[in-house]
Amino acid sequence: MDQIVIHGGKPLRGTVEVSGFKNAALPILFATVLTNDVCIIGNLPAISDVKLSFDILRAMGLRIDQLDKTTYRIDSRGATYGKSPDHLVEKMRGSIYIIGAELGRFGNASAGNCGGCNFGQRPIDQHLKAFRALGATVEECEDGRLNAWADQLVGKVIAFDVVSVGATVNAILASVMAEGMTVLENAAHEPHIVDLANFLNACGASISGAGTDVIKIRGVSSLHGCTYDIIPDMIEAGTYMVAAAVTGGKIEITNVIPKHLESIAAKLREMGVSVEEGDESVTVTGGDSLHGIHVKTMPYPGFPTDMHPQMSVLLCVADGISYMTENIFEHRFAYVEQLRSMGASISIDDRVATIQGGNRLLAANVRAVDLRAGAAMILAGLVARGKTVVSEIGYVRRGYDNIVGKLRALGADITDIDTED
Ligand code: EPZ
Repeated sequence: MDQIVIHGGKPLRGTVEVSGFKNAALPILFATVLTNDVCIIGNLPAISDVKLSFDILRAMGLRIDQLDKTTYRIDSRGATYGKSPDHLVEKMRGSIYIIGAELGRFGNASAGNCGGCNFGQRPIDQHLKAFRALGATVEECEDGRLNAWADQLVGKVIAFDVVSVGATVNAILASVMAEGMTVLENAAHEPHIVDLANFLNACGASISGAGTDVIKIRGVSSLHGCTYDIIPDMIEAGTYMVAAAVTGGKIEITNVIPKHLESIAAKLREMGVSVEEGDESVTVTGGDSLHGIHVKTMPYPGFPTDMHPQMSVLLCVADGISYMTENIFEHRFAYVEQLRSMGASISIDDRVATIQGGNRLLAANVRAVDLRAGAAMILAGLVARGKTVVSEIGYVRRGYDNIVGKLRALGADITDIDTED
């Protein structure tokens, strides 16, 4: 597994451009299967989850050609169902969108057990509830394989028991060409749901209400290709916002949609961090004395769970006691043990971490235990004086485009050591 070596203690200064959003790219890439046509998708991030999606889609019969650094031509006219390779599917949670896409296009779907970062159970009951409500028969095999089929998918009112990004995505994919109207209640509001709806509407779908908790999908007979750019990655942006705050530097973060960052900006301002908004940028300046706060993760537009580990690093160095309450995933605290090895004082009671601030983090050898935990370890290494080595950095490559290059350009002393050789 390769490593990243950081010599911390330097304030980061300069400008960084955010790449396209991983969690918008994955649904949209699998949604191209529905079009039976050619799509040109731009602003795709150079991350391993996108490369993995390409490998899976090519195995499903799609032709994918790179047009420039971030733009790809995706031809789904040769797509089939049930051909996604299990050994690829199991690497990524986003693979579950194969089922919604194949069901929506072919009325037939089959895929192996999908993977994903391990923070507790990753149930799929709401996905299956949506497929079955639309009239599909769904078979859950012992080995985690899912088979689903329907003579005709028919629109229904589907009230989710839990606000789920993935289940909302899959319900949209499966219903976009179903007969009649589908209404999703208690749907996820995230910007990537809106991005998916905008992409599908550009392909001829009829979706309204995305971004609210009631989404209406009027089934259409077919979809056509389109040209579409993925929205910027709000979590990558938030990670660089915290990088400015935690190192006491000043970073202008460009190619962002400030509205998507409002909950992150609000919590940083509450701590005493300066956040200035531009039309498509935010500029964050770390202060000398930041004070501790209580952060609670919530579905959008609340504070995103995917910013939880990164924010905890900042809370470690702020003055006073802070609290981090994780309301989305039951086990998102795996990063805490790694932070403790850097001198952090954190106690956990159920879903609440109590963080004793005012700590100087110490350089250490740590591991990326999941994608966002890995980003948090890098942030901790940037602020800890001395040499920090972050291992198992493959997790970070799943969701961060050129993080070493971007941080180095901001003045970080950071090196990517590929220990595979
Ligand atoms: C998506 O995961 C993201 N992944 C996650 O980002 C993100 O943390 C999460 O949404 C929440 O925003 C992708 O978009 C590929 P959920 P997803 O279904 O869809 C429960 C990252 O770091 N639930 O919204 O799997 C579930 O247990 C990754 O980029 C059910 O109970 O998340 C959780 O408690 C990590 N039944 C809550 O809902 C279901 O059928 C939210 O999960 C589905 C989910």
